[in-house]
Amino acid sequence: MIRTIRPDALNRTGFSKIDFVGSHILSVSQFDRHAIDQVFAAADSMVPFANRQRVTRVLEGAILGNMFFEPSTRTRVSFGCAWNLLGGEVRETAEIKTSAITKGESFYDTARVLSGYSDVIVMRHKIEGSVEEFASASRVPVINGGDGSNEHPSQALLDLFTIRKEVGDRGKSVDNLRIALIGDLRYGRAVHSLCRLLTLYNNVHFSLISPPELSLGDEYIEEMRAGGHEVVESTDLHGSISHADILYVTRTQEERFPTQEEAERYKGLFRLNQSIYTEYCEPNTVIMHPLPRDSRGNANELDNDLNENPNLAIFRQTDNGVLIRMALFALILDVADKIEDTARNVSWYTAKRF
Ligand code: NCD
Repeated sequence: MIRTIRPDALNRTGFSKIDFVGSHILSVSQFDRHAIDQVFAAADSMVPFANRQRVTRVLEGAILGNMFFEPSTRTRVSFGCAWNLLGGEVRETAEIKTSAITKGESFYDTARVLSGYSDVIVMRHKIEGSVEEFASASRVPVINGGDGSNEHPSQALLDLFTIRKEVGDRGKSVDNLRIALIGDLRYGRAVHSLCRLLTLYNNVHFSLISPPELSLGDEYIEEMRAGGHEVVESTDLHGSISHADILYVTRTQEERFPTQEEAERYKGLFRLNQSIYTEYCEPNTVIMHPLPRDSRGNANELDNDLNENPNLAIFRQTDNGVLIRMALFALILDVADKIEDTARNVSWYTAKRF
């Protein structure tokens, strides 16, 4: 069921346009391919605004509550920028220490309070299911910015948007995609949401490369196989990346481990660098990572010597994050068709970013 704060939209099936309006975005399970296409079409229309050719005031007066109770750089800032680019104002908490949650306040009370101050709330918290609990008490739509190791829907949408564009530029499609997911597949919420989204396409080949202790949960693998996709698990990086269209590298999610010592055991086990890429990958294999990459010497899962490789798509992913987040806001607040009404060309010098 699509969770929404609009009682008249409850119990709808599918995800037609009206279902976005006033809806929480908590899980990728809410999406079908039609809904994804709507997000991507809206994201495409945001390009002139994200690259500072045009400005719009469509959300003038609206307030985003950007509530991050767990560390974040790009998700927090890009949600904030996306809202600003639509003309709205952002209020944010960037540290749990500065929030009354540390005084014992419940998610219920926090949500009731914050939803009185905002038009939309984005929330991140380390507990799985916390954002859903928060959303059930919120009076305004809530977007899940990551709940523990569970889900990260906006990241998966921007990853899928990037995959579609990258493989499209190479004459391929998301159907029949060959993707290798590498690293901490157990705790990585970006991986969980992306795998779920990809099951909506046809005939995806998943290579899952991880230490056995950090393998992807059975519930995800069962969902992927039930959708008719091939799933192969392996501990052999070199042997498993040779036929992939996409390499999706991840960081050991050290903050999810019972002890730091245990997390340290898994760092540096799977490393991708230019020489491994040259030797084992097909030319033009796309390299992705949700970021942050752990560039410390004992980890370094994605080496800096790949920085000049044109197939490294990690900063195209982060740029696409702004487009996707603008699209989600526009659809939830029903302004996707009104962006141009208040739009004008920018009058300042704009560096070329794209
Ligand atoms: C990811 C996350 O927070 O789950 N980062 C992000 O939002 N881009 C991945 C990670 O932290 O490793």
